[in-house]
Amino acid sequence: MRLLNVKNIILGVIFIFSCNSLIHAQLSEKDQVRLDELMGKMTLEEKIGQLNQYTGDYEATGPIRKGGDKVEEIKNGKVGSMLNIKGVENTRILQEFAMQSRLKIPLLFGLDVVHGYYTTFPIPLAEAASWDIEAIEKSARIAATEASSGGVHWTFAPMVDIARDPRWGRVMEGAGEDTWLGAKIAGARVRGFQGDGLGSTDAVMACVKHFAAYGAAVGGRDYNSVDMSERMLRETYLPPFKASVDAGAATFMNSFNDLNGIPATGNVFLQREILKGEWDFQGFVVSDWGSMGEMIAHGYCKDEKEAALRSIIAGSDMDMESRVYTHELEKLVNEGLVPMALIDDAVKRILTKKFEMGLFDDPFRFCNPEREKAALNDPSNREAARDIARKSIVMLKNNNQTLPIDIKSKDKKVKTIALIGPLAQSENDMLGFWSISWPDGDIVSLEEGLRSRLPEDVKLLVAKGCEINTDSKTGFDEAIEIARKADIVILSIGEALDMSGEAKSKGHIRLPGVQEELAQAIQGTGKPVVVIMNAGRPLVFNWVADNMPAILYTWWLGSEAGNAMADVIFGDYNPSGKLPMTFPRDEGQIPLYYNYFSTGRPSFGDHDLLYKSAYIDMPNSPKFPFGYGLSYTTFEYSDLVLSSKSMSSKDKIHVTLNLKNTGKTAGEEVVQLYLKDRFGSVIRPVKELKDFRKLMLQPGETKSIIFDIDAEMLSFYNNDLQWVAEEGEFELMIGSSSADIRLKESFELK
Ligand code: NOJ
Repeated sequence: MRLLNVKNIILGVIFIFSCNSLIHAQLSEKDQVRLDELMGKMTLEEKIGQLNQYTGDYEATGPIRKGGDKVEEIKNGKVGSMLNIKGVENTRILQEFAMQSRLKIPLLFGLDVVHGYYTTFPIPLAEAASWDIEAIEKSARIAATEASSGGVHWTFAPMVDIARDPRWGRVMEGAGEDTWLGAKIAGARVRGFQGDGLGSTDAVMACVKHFAAYGAAVGGRDYNSVDMSERMLRETYLPPFKASVDAGAATFMNSFNDLNGIPATGNVFLQREILKGEWDFQGFVVSDWGSMGEMIAHGYCKDEKEAALRSIIAGSDMDMESRVYTHELEKLVNEGLVPMALIDDAVKRILTKKFEMGLFDDPFRFCNPEREKAALNDPSNREAARDIARKSIVMLKNNNQTLPIDIKSKDKKVKTIALIGPLAQSENDMLGFWSISWPDGDIVSLEEGLRSRLPEDVKLLVAKGCEINTDSKTGFDEAIEIARKADIVILSIGEALDMSGEAKSKGHIRLPGVQEELAQAIQGTGKPVVVIMNAGRPLVFNWVADNMPAILYTWWLGSEAGNAMADVIFGDYNPSGKLPMTFPRDEGQIPLYYNYFSTGRPSFGDHDLLYKSAYIDMPNSPKFPFGYGLSYTTFEYSDLVLSSKSMSSKDKIHVTLNLKNTGKTAGEEVVQLYLKDRFGSVIRPVKELKDFRKLMLQPGETKSIIFDIDAEMLSFYNNDLQWVAEEGEFELMIGSSSADIRLKESFELK
């Protein structure tokens, strides 16, 4: 039944009022009076103007709707926000146009500050590998400080989509596959962006995206459909969004996908019922780029009028680049199809944020050129970027202690290093997708990072070997020649920055071009090889993984990439990263994730295949599991003690254990706590991460670790979608990765 039928509209509107999805947050008394007075003065056209967002044509991520004169529209109060405008000079010019409008309502400037503004931090997936919540918050804080100094009020981040499919290019933007870790990181990023709260000039509004379930797009194909049960949605995909609301996120962005047949942009259930109803979200929702208009291509709306109607009813407050609100909302109100209360609600939500940002007191308060200069030249930002970059590196393999390379000791064996590979000298690729390019951007390449550290008696020879993605092997000979002259080879391979990200889905996630063949050619020289793998997603690289002695997965690490990699390569930093996503052996295993459900025919091990839930041509197990990552030292887990073997839903069990650094190097370990509900009224995952501790230990040092288990950690959505902890037996697993469980116990909930 089409919504344009009046009966449905009335039902829809009654529902909206009954689910209490309208704004009730109050500003300070003074600002509330100003807001109410302003609302009283606004014409319908001016109100609709506030719901309209245009791009500055600077860096489009979708088709740009040309036509109209944006400057005139701003002067006439027909634009509420601009995206893709950055820098004090530019934002000031546009804000001055807004100040020429009748009511002088300031513009909001939004930008995709996804992993840094001027200083580029590691891509979000890499940062998630640090499992360092404080460092992640700090990275968002610095990004906000820089962005706000450049006139930006609002970042379209964090992206909190749970992603279990590495074919989906956008896995690089989020925190990976795990709901619990994802929720922690989502909260940290929101806190980081918003700092001391809206109103401080170094806070930018967070925009939590993409609401919702975008990460589950069928086949990992961007913009694709999503079909899932409400239980899966609530249990696996929504918690990071809820954690963001709890952390005070100012805004949300909806998503391109449909959920069970209803596009997210027109989805009353998602936006009205859950977000603005159940969760009482008082901020505003911006559509994704053109997603209102795209409901026509979805086959959900027959024209722009219906797209506007469905969007406003569903609770999409601001239209990013579809222009359906500017074209159609006035007619819809005049025809009585959209109640004025819905328009007012959306406008109030947006204006409330403008008041909270202090823009009505001073629309130019983010436009201070001296502050901009100082913020963009703060050396401590680079230090922080380097710190989190090295924490994000995951060591996947280190046979024969190939790493770290000793360049300092008197009796060192390495006198010549060959640096080979298409990414060895690359600067831009180090930034990764969603970086905001700056013409004078100072990016440290791997070569630079290595060179700056080398003593005079160690030589570095460099050859590209091949391009990232061509068939040509003409550079192989030179690469082989320098490898022969060297004591060790550092091989820098992987993806270019535009191979993961939005609209970068891939059917094959193997090493592009002839890079694997280059690796084979270098291995033929018999020299030890350290592989540095840069990528925006988990790649499949079995030959390299099986044949090379040492591998560092370095993602895209940002401005300080080269220094961070050199820190780990030469042992100035002991790697501590752990994978936030499962790495498959083969694309055929995807989606592959550690917290899968128990089946009736579980396969125990890679050879237990027949009539089991398994493939007959490849194992079920991943190449590298979730939570995995090596260190230059080793850790021993011992003395697991539970304060009790049973608890009630009001109690807690205290879990203690000891962790000892049994190696010769100081290092950090991420101690992971997993739980499994043995029998449930609905089946439960084989294990779920529920807590972790990251701690630093000196050689020989032992630290005691305490975890608390409470009923919340044991809860899940039952078949009636109630959040419950059911009585029964639970397994407790403590480990160094999801597949490397070192200590086990069981307990009961009574
Ligand atoms: C489309 C992307 O899906 C979204 O994440 C981004 O914020 C907007 N474009 C604006 O660039």
